[in-house]
Amino acid sequence: MSENHSETHPVCSAVVGLQWGDEGKGKVVDLLAATHDVVARYNGGANAGHSVVVQGQRFSLHLIPSGILYPSKLAVIGNGVVLDPDKLGQELDGLRARGVDTSGLIVSDRAHVVMPYHKAEDAAREDSLKSAREEAQAGSVSEIGTTRRGIGPAYAEKVQRAGAVRVGDLLRPESLKEKIGVAVATRRTSGLKLDPATLDEAKLLEWAIGAGELIRPMVQDTAYLLNNLVRAGKRILFESANGTLLDVDHGTYPFVTGSSCAIAGIGTGTGVPVQRVGRVVGVMKAYSTRVGAGPLPTELAGPGEAGAIGDRIRNRGREFGTTTGRPRRVGWLDLVAVRYSVMVNGITSIALTMLDVLAGMETVRVCTGYRVGGKVTDRFLPDAVSLGRAEPVYENLPGFADEIGAARIRRELPDRARAYVEFIESRVGVPVEIVSVGPDREQTITS
Ligand code: GDP
Ligand code: IMO
Ligand code: MG
Repeated sequence: MSENHSETHPVCSAVVGLQWGDEGKGKVVDLLAATHDVVARYNGGANAGHSVVVQGQRFSLHLIPSGILYPSKLAVIGNGVVLDPDKLGQELDGLRARGVDTSGLIVSDRAHVVMPYHKAEDAAREDSLKSAREEAQAGSVSEIGTTRRGIGPAYAEKVQRAGAVRVGDLLRPESLKEKIGVAVATRRTSGLKLDPATLDEAKLLEWAIGAGELIRPMVQDTAYLLNNLVRAGKRILFESANGTLLDVDHGTYPFVTGSSCAIAGIGTGTGVPVQRVGRVVGVMKAYSTRVGAGPLPTELAGPGEAGAIGDRIRNRGREFGTTTGRPRRVGWLDLVAVRYSVMVNGITSIALTMLDVLAGMETVRVCTGYRVGGKVTDRFLPDAVSLGRAEPVYENLPGFADEIGAARIRRELPDRARAYVEFIESRVGVPVEIVSVGPDREQTITS
């Protein structure tokens, strides 16, 4: 009997963020998509903002996989994504207006829908946590600093089940009406102050039927589609949203998002077994950033020198959110965190981005351990309270003066920039396969 090659050999790849999101996954997916047939999202929703810059033209993708920019590829939104139909419509209009062919987009019938009341609930919960923090003045109560895109409430509804609406339901008005009824009734008694307009059943039904008409031509059973493609020898690139340290299980809980961002999410979020994935590319910045609340041990903030270095990195790296425009918190590179993310994802190679941003610094610091209660550890602490108590232990490396945005091979990098890359490789134990020295597709070193 002949052996089916693709059944036994992994043909798929994954791109996953190793920090707190915004590592440059969009750019790396765009680079790798060239050698794949399909790009599939498996987690998150419109909380993601993935930037791709092609010949000076910047695209910001939120729900649609970054592979959409290649006309011949399929772009699949898997069942693990929570889908906001309004955002999808806006994104499709924006891409079409710029001449992008969006006919390759396919949406899972089992993706959960972000309903208007999920967004209202996200905002209401954040506002109430913020008031509690202001009243308590201290302690660990704090808003999460979500994107207010309804992500957490949509995933919570998925787990609660009865009132959850999936893309397939949008195409079946009878069951849709029933589910919306359950969801609204639950909210009427929840005590959360929600805008009454988001709980008007007739309006919600009309909105949901309209959403169904928008999505209907794209809907498929994507688990069968993707597995059949794998069987036919097609190569799938899985595009993770958010970051490993925002993963609901493995991140800095509770300051995380609602989904499985690490590659374990591929199995639940698409129906493709994770053993089909042979190449797992971890994307990391040459420093750390975080948006929203939660511990960032190496944070560079405050009125002194640390804050000034943080501001310099933020401005050079244009560290302002792609989705919300919020200034990102900035810190030195945390290799304790990166090593942990490499471990939980089984990373096979690293894409190091933003190396150009560090040019012009006399010294660059890298956190290689944490001091906790007088003891030094090289273990990450994926829990906000424990991590909040960790003090970074740094190694100082010499910085590099020259701008490096024009380098195209590693040998063209200044010695000290190359040494920084080699330091990461040696401490993390995984090769750096891609070095990114600017936002553009061309500003990339692969050899
Ligand atoms: P993602 O969410 O992981 O896709 O990352 P974002 O797109 O939210 O944020 C990364 C930002 O850095 C975007 O503005 C990119 O265009 C930009 N970028 C990506 N790689 C580089 C790089 O190597 N250098 C610089 N200066 N900018 C980069
Ligand atoms: P990409 O894919 C950076 C953060 C939010 C907040 C926390 C929870 O562009 O890297 P949520 O709205 O998901 O409930 O917010 O997670 N967050 C991100 N930070 N990049 C992202 O996505 C993020 N997605 C969520 O800022 O702290
Ligand atoms: Mg982003």
